[in-house]
Amino acid sequence: MAAQEVSNKQVILKDYVVGSPKESDMEFTTSKIALKVPEDCDGILVKNLYLSCDPFMRGRMTKPERASYVEAFTPGKPITGYGVSKVLDSQHPNFKAGDLVWGMTGWEEYSLITSAQSFFKIEDTDVPLSYYTGILGMPGMTAYTGFYEIGSPKRGECVYVSAASGAVGQLVGQLAKLAGCYVVGSAGSKEKVELLKSKFGFDEAFNYKEEEDLEAALRRYFPDGIDIYFENVGGKMLDAVLMNMKDHGRIPTCGMISQYNLQQHDGVHNLFNVVSKRIRMQGFIVFDHYHLYPKYLELILPQIKEGKVSYVEDVAEGLENAPSALIGIFAGRNVGKQLVVVARE
Ligand SMILES: NC(=O)c1ccc[n+]([C@@H]2O[C@H](COP(=O)([O-])OP(=O)(O)OC[C@H]3O[C@@H](n4cnc5c(N)ncnc54)[C@H](OP(=O)(O)O)[C@@H]3O)[C@@H](O)[C@H]2O)c1
Repeated sequence: MAAQEVSNKQVILKDYVVGSPKESDMEFTTSKIALKVPEDCDGILVKNLYLSCDPFMRGRMTKPERASYVEAFTPGKPITGYGVSKVLDSQHPNFKAGDLVWGMTGWEEYSLITSAQSFFKIEDTDVPLSYYTGILGMPGMTAYTGFYEIGSPKRGECVYVSAASGAVGQLVGQLAKLAGCYVVGSAGSKEKVELLKSKFGFDEAFNYKEEEDLEAALRRYFPDGIDIYFENVGGKMLDAVLMNMKDHGRIPTCGMISQYNLQQHDGVHNLFNVVSKRIRMQGFIVFDHYHLYPKYLELILPQIKEGKVSYVEDVAEGLENAPSALIGIFAGRNVGKQLVVVARE
């Protein structure tokens, strides 16, 4: 019997992007898709439910001129990114129709995933399913591995988090509190600063856009210096932090979002502090740490269920709003984890 064919709305990248991405860099198209995995493929056919808007997607919009840790998008093809999906058909031994999964899918209603081995099966559905785009997905694992594996926190240490209200930052702050640290976060609006203190339990928070002298602002919150800086933004903030680090401090270097839309990246002027203060500044990519996912779930699921860790999401409704949601994260429009609802099962 012929497989059922349905229409499939897709978000296409029109061309490589220079500078800040715009909604007009993307367009919609509708194609047809058979809801069955072809005989010669060991993949899965999924219905996409939630799509995740992540900063690393900006790098994938740039014309690739040198090797990167992640492949560039192909102009004229649907954008891809993390999402939560329902398996409709499978020829992969790890998945069956009806399973809920998260992994790298297409920005479209239905996707044929030809290499399903990197997908995670969702076992616990006692929590909001959309959390698998955030706290229970890639950003959660990023916060966990960056803070614990690279940051090596000790009780009583002083932790600073930039982009602190975002998908990763809000969790780093809460993990720091659970680890018995003093934690300060910065974010780009009054509303976000309030959220850091009232909802996520940061000891202090400030709006970096209102500070003329970032170095002085950090001195105010950390008179004795910073032990761990969870680096999300780079640029001027990194320079100010380097001047405020303690000896033997650690900088888990997670991202540098202030640089992603620049053609010429800012220089870093205060790097000698890394030498003089014996700072360990280490970059990491979450993909290398996915073997720790079961251990992370063991830690975080009870915390969520007992209400000890909270997670704020910014939800855009419908695939038609996905381009605007994605570009919004580079202007700080998102409050919390930005995601897009394509369908609710
Ligand atoms: N290494 C890894 O494996 C890995 C994995 C995931 C994420 N990351 C990185 O982690 C960082 C945070 O990601 P996320 O998913 O949590 O994003 P997010 O915080 O949910 O969204 C991005 C936020 O960054 C801030 N921002 C945007 N432009 C900025 C600028 N020019 N200067 C300062 N802040 C700016 C905005 O908040 P404000 O209103 O506060 O400005 C915006 O809301 C990013 O650098 C990302 O690339 C790395």
